[in-house]
Amino acid sequence: MKIRKAMENDIKGIAQVHVNSWQSTYAGILPHHYLASLNIETRMKNWQRNLKMLHNVTFVAENSDGEIIGFASGGPEQTNDPHIQGEVYAIYFLKEYQRQGLGKQMIKTVIDELMKMGHKNLIIWALKDNPSCGFYETLGGLAVAEKTVKMAGIELIEVGYGWKDIQDILIHL
Ligand SMILES: CC(C)(COP(=O)(O)OP(=O)(O)OC[C@H]1O[C@@H](n2cnc3c(N)ncnc32)[C@H](O)[C@@H]1OP(=O)(O)O)[C@@H](O)C(=O)NCCC(=O)NCCS
Repeated sequence: MKIRKAMENDIKGIAQVHVNSWQSTYAGILPHHYLASLNIETRMKNWQRNLKMLHNVTFVAENSDGEIIGFASGGPEQTNDPHIQGEVYAIYFLKEYQRQGLGKQMIKTVIDELMKMGHKNLIIWALKDNPSCGFYETLGGLAVAEKTVKMAGIELIEVGYGWKDIQDILIHL
């Protein structure tokens, strides 16, 4: 497995993992018709925009065949909260590559980059019903905030996992 910065021609691979991982992760949490309607072309357009955001960073994980099997992105906290500086926006692996320690390697890479950007603390939002919340708890994240979000026409709760000192996450990796 290799982790490297995402490039323009990774957009299709990222979009494929995005759609595939959303469909497996959010089955039973988001409506089936919504997940079934997720579309790689639309995601590609979003990722084309995301990769151009100057202060954000996106990494991809490749398997030994050079196929993208996961990605993560981060950058400045997105709501201009005066108390929070850095945020991991997304981290997704294909189901068959989960629980093999790759998430930890990926998050370390993103955190190193966020620290280089000067971010001193961190938040990561996750749907409360997502079993992957266990990942953030293992990494020492504390549930510091909650908000209701509307997705696919339904209201869901998101939990904000916070690290007062971004370096604290490294202790758990
Ligand atoms: C969340 C995710 C990125 C974590 O990456 P990963 O490679 O699976 O995690 P790791 O193997 O590095 O896990 C490290 C530890 O975190 C904890 N952990 C990881 N996933 C967990 C889960 N679903 N439930 C509970 N604990 C979990 C465990 O303690 C795990 O160690 P263990 O496997 O030895 O028990 C990955 O599982 C994933 O892509 N999930 C689906 C997408 C998703 O939910 N993304 C987050 C959206 S907010």
